[in-house]
Amino acid sequence: MRFSMFLFTACLAGSLTGQAQDVPKKQAEFKPGDVWLDTKGEVINAHGGGLLYDKGTYYWFGEKRGQSASEGVNVYSSKDLYNWKPEGMALAKSTDPGSEIAANGLMERPKVIYNPKTKKYVMWFHLELPGQGYNAARAGVAVSDKVTGPYTYQKSFRPNGHMSRDMTLYVDDDGSAYHVYSARDNYDLRLVKLTDDYLSATTQDTLLFSNHREAPALFKKDGQYFLITSGCTGWAPNRASLHTATSLFGPWKLVGDPMKGPMADKTFDGQSTYIQPVQGKKDAFIFIADRWNPKDLKDSRYLWLPISFTNNQPVVEWTDAWTTGVWKK
Ligand code: DGJ
Repeated sequence: MRFSMFLFTACLAGSLTGQAQDVPKKQAEFKPGDVWLDTKGEVINAHGGGLLYDKGTYYWFGEKRGQSASEGVNVYSSKDLYNWKPEGMALAKSTDPGSEIAANGLMERPKVIYNPKTKKYVMWFHLELPGQGYNAARAGVAVSDKVTGPYTYQKSFRPNGHMSRDMTLYVDDDGSAYHVYSARDNYDLRLVKLTDDYLSATTQDTLLFSNHREAPALFKKDGQYFLITSGCTGWAPNRASLHTATSLFGPWKLVGDPMKGPMADKTFDGQSTYIQPVQGKKDAFIFIADRWNPKDLKDSRYLWLPISFTNNQPVVEWTDAWTTGVWKK
């Protein structure tokens, strides 16, 4: 009796403090659009994110969101891509009110890459300065010796004077790294090569196209680069488009919408954020998108879908549940 009372009290205390009640069962598949729990049973809070594969483990970095607040960058780790262990905050907001990353600014779309020369993990993100809405349009940079952080904030800037909002990072086969970013109030999509330490932008900065696009996600297969972007409609979903090139500096050719199936014309009610190659599988890439809930941003859902190829062009087809077993090799 006393034992069951203890359980009752413990459960009640848990519900009052908002703690997770049960440790979730092990996940064995992706369910795009469902509520995704971490290994402690909490809802995963990593939006506009990107992945890094490092020494046998995947790390998922994403925006920690409140109802509307931008609260910093969370990081999770996983060996299998289905079960994600919370590793805490990779980069927290500064408590110094004079800091560029103080509470009422925005940190969006964080991406992390590893620099083998400096042995540092380097994070870039879209930074909006405190109290300035979306007017600052800057790229922020933070660095860490450890993949999960904590990352130390370095600086922010507009690459070569260009506005920088939605962004991604891409490391090519030769170790050169690039920042792809929406510029000129999102009318332009640009690419700039990073310095060897990945901490700054070089002057090798080029206009990819001026189609009013954002949410860039980039990958390469058989010497061909593929770039998926969204239109610019705030948090509301819109039609995705695919561009291809054989050089990152272009020319980039518009192919069309790579999405297929119900709601394909609205990217399945989502917006691209990243494309992750699956280790140990051939030509296996995961398209990663956010299904934003603007009324409660932390409740935004994750859409991860397999990329297939038709005539060497990527196709993203909706599926309710799937595993990496879709790739045989
Ligand atoms: C669309 C962008 O892709 C998001 O990252 C975010 O900045 C929203 N706009 C804000 O409306």
